[in-house]
Amino acid sequence: MYILGGTSATNVATNLANRIKQPLLHTTYKRFPDDEFYVRLLDDVADQDVVIVQTAYPDPKIVEIFLIQDAVHEAGAKKITVVLPYFGYSRQDKKFEEGEAISARAIAQHISRNADCVITVDPHKEHILKFFTVPAYSCSAVVSLARYLKEKHVDFVLAPDKGAKQRAKDAASFIGCDYDYLEKTRIDGTTVKITPKNLDARGKHVAIIDDIISTGGTMAHSIKELKRQGAKTVLVACTHGLFVGGAKEKLLSADCDEIVSTDTIETEFSKVSVAETIAQTLQKTADI
Ligand code: R5P
Repeated sequence: MYILGGTSATNVATNLANRIKQPLLHTTYKRFPDDEFYVRLLDDVADQDVVIVQTAYPDPKIVEIFLIQDAVHEAGAKKITVVLPYFGYSRQDKKFEEGEAISARAIAQHISRNADCVITVDPHKEHILKFFTVPAYSCSAVVSLARYLKEKHVDFVLAPDKGAKQRAKDAASFIGCDYDYLEKTRIDGTTVKITPKNLDARGKHVAIIDDIISTGGTMAHSIKELKRQGAKTVLVACTHGLFVGGAKEKLLSADCDEIVSTDTIETEFSKVSVAETIAQTLQKTADI
């Protein structure tokens, strides 16, 4: 088996290869003067299992996946597993209004074309796995994040909305502390409204946990509410740290004490690796 790291997941691919003791495939990647992507495999993958690891975000990285898959298929690989640490477009998982694309399905169908199996981490909604036309599995970074939070002496976990409630519950159960959740209403892509609610957070070291931090609006509102209610420290933790549109500044000016994310998108806040959870899923689905 070879592990092939794309340009958006080099750390995850390296960690994964080390963890499961399989070699990293050698490749040449470059961009032409017009910015088109070029890939060439430097090892022979004929009749081999190849695990392509590439985050599908931002858009150019999705094209890279298609080209890498094509190269691996052309070279005669026996089995192609595509690992998407972050599956971009997964939040457009249905038609919210007539005339829209079901973006997650469109991308999933294209990725399925040259894949035998797909693995992704903490998808926004589990049902997007059905959009792939090959077996698709999800794995969770919650235990890896919770291990980090426990080391930081977190003693209360909050979900910023109902959708993240199970995540908060699982993290709290690993840490051995209480959890709660907030009611969030999304007004538009950048505006959210949090309904005030009494939380048992006074004097506590709180972690707010979510699948994605995008603009940081959801977390910023939740931090302010927790600090207003007397939380001692507030750490925000997510699997996928997009941090767009001044998210870092928004979180810091909301008096956030620490920002933590995994390495599904590599940023200065990638303090936890998803290699462990991916390795466990790969071991269940592959012959290693
Ligand atoms: C949405 O339901 C997700 O779980 C996140 O809460 C959301 O994507 C965060 O977005 P933002 O950081 O822009 O508030």
